[in-house]
Amino acid sequence: MCETGTKLDGKVAIVTGGSSGVGYEAAKNLARRGARVIIASRNETKLKLARDKLQEETGNNDIGYKTMDLGSFKSVRNFVADTTNTENRLDILINNAGAVGLPDVLTEDGLNLTMQVNYFGTFLLTYLLIPFLRKSPPSRIINGSAGSMYIGSVDFEHWNDIGRYSFIESLSNSKLAITLFNVELSKRLNSDEVTANSYDPFVVPDTDVLNQIPSGIRDLADFFIRLVGQPKEEVGAQIAYLAAAPEMKNVTGKHYKFCTDWFNHWLASDDELRRILWDVSKELVKISADEDWETNAIH
Ligand SMILES: NC(=O)c1ccc[n+]([C@@H]2O[C@H](COP(=O)([O-])OP(=O)(O)OC[C@H]3O[C@@H](n4cnc5c(N)ncnc54)[C@H](OP(=O)(O)O)[C@@H]3O)[C@@H](O)[C@H]2O)c1
Repeated sequence: MCETGTKLDGKVAIVTGGSSGVGYEAAKNLARRGARVIIASRNETKLKLARDKLQEETGNNDIGYKTMDLGSFKSVRNFVADTTNTENRLDILINNAGAVGLPDVLTEDGLNLTMQVNYFGTFLLTYLLIPFLRKSPPSRIINGSAGSMYIGSVDFEHWNDIGRYSFIESLSNSKLAITLFNVELSKRLNSDEVTANSYDPFVVPDTDVLNQIPSGIRDLADFFIRLVGQPKEEVGAQIAYLAAAPEMKNVTGKHYKFCTDWFNHWLASDDELRRILWDVSKELVKISADEDWETNAIH
C-alpha cells in the first residue's frame, strides 16, 4: 500500500525527532532514496549516534544533524536561521518530534510545556520555514498527529494552564491542535508550491515515547502497543510515502493513517475555529513583522 520507488537525489529533508523511534525510521527511508537528511532534536550525543547509524545503515553519507528544542522559541528561531544560512534548499519537512508525560510546567516562553513541544514549537518552525520551502517547489510538509486527537479539546482560554489537564489530556489537545493547524496551513499555501498533510502512526512499539510516563501505566501501555502496534519501520515507510510518492503531488490538507486517506477530526471542517487557532498561534509564538510572510508581499 505504501510502496513507492521514488528516488530523492538532490532533495533536502528535515526530520524533527529523527534521533529515535519513528522519526529515525522516516529519516532512514528518505536517506535510502538519496535525499540529504537533517535530523533535529535536543540531545546532541543522541543525534550524532543516530547520524552515524543512519550513514552506516543506508550508505548515504549526506546526513546532517542540528540541535533544536521545540520547547524553546529561541532555539527554534536559531535552528531556522542556521538552516537557511547553511542549506541551499528544503524540499521536505517532517514534523514528527513530540513527547508525552512531560512535567506540568510552563516553558521559558510562558506556555504549557506539552503544548509547546507538541504544537506551538512546530507551528513556529513550520511558519518560519515556509519562505524557504517555497524556494524549491513543489515541497511537502508532513505533520505527525496521533489517534488521541479524537479525545482532545480546543480551549483557547485554558490550553496553556498548569494543573488543569492530565498528561493524556495535554497530549490529546496538542495532537488535535497540530491536525487543525495542518488543514489551515494547507488552505493558506498554494499546493503547486507547498503541500501539507498529517498522519496518525496509530501505536508503535520499541520507541522512547513512553519513557516519561508513570511506570504502572507505562507497562500497561507497552503491553498493549506491542500487541497491536505497527512496526516502526513500517511507519517510517508510510511517512516517506507521503513525502515522496508522485501520486501525492498536489495532494494537500488530508489526514492519513495506514497510508490511507483517513477521516479527520470533525473540528477540521470548522473554518472559523481553524482561523482563530492560526491567529492565536501566531500571537503566542510572537511572529514578528519581518517573519510574517502572510503580510509580506515579497516572500
Ligand atoms: N510510539 C507511538 O505509539 C506513537 C503513537 C502516536 C503518536 N506518536 C508520535 O510520534 C512521534 C514520535 O514518537 P516516537 O514514538 O518515535 O518517540 P521517541 O522515540 O521518543 O522519539 C521522539 C523524538 O522527538 C525528539 N524530541 C522530544 N522532545 C523534543 C523537543 N522538546 N524538541 C525537539 N525534539 C524533541 C526526541 O529526541 P530528544 O529527546 O533528544 O529531543 C526524539 O528524537 C511523537 O510525536 C509521538 O507523539 C507515537
